[in-house]
Amino acid sequence: MAATSTLPLHLLLLLLLSASFSFTAASSVGINYGQIADNLPHPQSVIPLVKSVGASAVKLYDADPRVLKSFANTGVEFIVGLGNEYLSSMRDTKQALAWVKTNVQGYLPATKITTIAVGNEVLTFNDSTLSSNLLPAMENIHTALVSLNLDKQVTVTTAHNLGILEVSYPPSSGTFRSDLTQKLKYILDFHCKTGSPFLINAYPYFAYKANPKQISLDFVLFEGSGIVDSGSGLHYDNMFFAQIDAAHSAMEKLGYKNVCLQVSETGWPSKGDADEAGASKENAKKYNGNLMKVIAGKKGTPMRPNLNLNVYVFALFNEKKKPGPTSERNFGLFKPDGTPVYDLGFNVTGLGSVKSPPSSGGSSDGMTPSVVTPVGESPDGYLSINADDAERLPFRAALSILCLIVSTILALPL
Ligand SMILES: *[C@@H]1O[C@H](CO)[C@@H](O)[C@H](O)[C@H]1NC(C)=O
Ligand SMILES: *[C@@H]1O[C@H](CO)[C@@H](O)[C@H](O)[C@H]1NC(C)=O
Repeated sequence: MAATSTLPLHLLLLLLLSASFSFTAASSVGINYGQIADNLPHPQSVIPLVKSVGASAVKLYDADPRVLKSFANTGVEFIVGLGNEYLSSMRDTKQALAWVKTNVQGYLPATKITTIAVGNEVLTFNDSTLSSNLLPAMENIHTALVSLNLDKQVTVTTAHNLGILEVSYPPSSGTFRSDLTQKLKYILDFHCKTGSPFLINAYPYFAYKANPKQISLDFVLFEGSGIVDSGSGLHYDNMFFAQIDAAHSAMEKLGYKNVCLQVSETGWPSKGDADEAGASKENAKKYNGNLMKVIAGKKGTPMRPNLNLNVYVFALFNEKKKPGPTSERNFGLFKPDGTPVYDLGFNVTGLGSVKSPPSSGGSSDGMTPSVVTPVGESPDGYLSINADDAERLPFRAALSILCLIVSTILALPL
């Protein structure tokens, strides 16, 4: 923590200024590409869909070779996933190296893999063996990248369920679950050491669904007058920012104000069961449409007004084989035939003239089985706001540095 506090302030300010002059113009969208379905189009046909929503980054839950090959030379950035089922084997450094060679190095540089998400929502499974494998897996994957000289272009992280918070309201009271605090400290140390972001999956939808009588739908859909955090006095227009700042508060309480937080998943279902309040096309359109406006507006959150918010929307497709309530299968922006589920205001033409999928069906790549998403857990996809295509890697690096600098300055007693 406070790793940069030894830098002189004037140097920090200089860096901050030069960074902001060079990088203010870049902003765009990314999306989670989950594939728990047997009726999705071939990845080659998915490229225009990703482009049609203006996404410049895609997050996978595996390292599907068909996707990674299809998106070569498209300029689209990738977060690849290493499934929870592989964490124990990644304790073996040789296997970690082999995984990186096969699933990352083999596609670079044509396919722009920038991040490896090791495990998904691991800590909230409450499985002590799985949890204890998380950090060693992250470390060994990072070490493998270092040995292949890829650690400057590919970072290692993991995505957390917001359930890692014990207290999330008001945002200034945000605190991690006490039984997870020690593990999270070590993970945050890893982020400090390697410069990678802390990822959370944040769903105002689930908060609303659990408590529709108490929570204002307008507040979760970015349309209300908002609330004031009684602890900080800060005004929150929407629950999305409140959830993010609750995580910021939790990190800050442990002394990690300078780790960059990004939202690896958020979204809204267009359909749900009778007991799933709020799941409708109208609400999904409002949530995702307003979310994109907020992201395009490039304001940070109330606690972090200078944060360059990096958000991945969930999800590209409705995924018919996801278990759980109806909403789980209806988070997609697109139906499997490539038509939009609802009008998001993008110029979407569906699959158009792109060649039809081969008959093989499913992601039968043999080594990257679909991530299993547990019932009641968040859906497995997201949308992201990233840099312009040009100079993406320098931009990424600068963005991390900028985030670090801004938070360091904020932490200084000026
Ligand atoms: C995990 O434990 C927490 C805290 O004890 C509990 O609130 C949560 O429901 C549990 N989650 C699962 C998936 O069992
Ligand atoms: C949508 O895209 C089509 C094909 O690229 C183009 O002809 C049309 O003008 C676009 N419409 C809008 C509203 O941008």
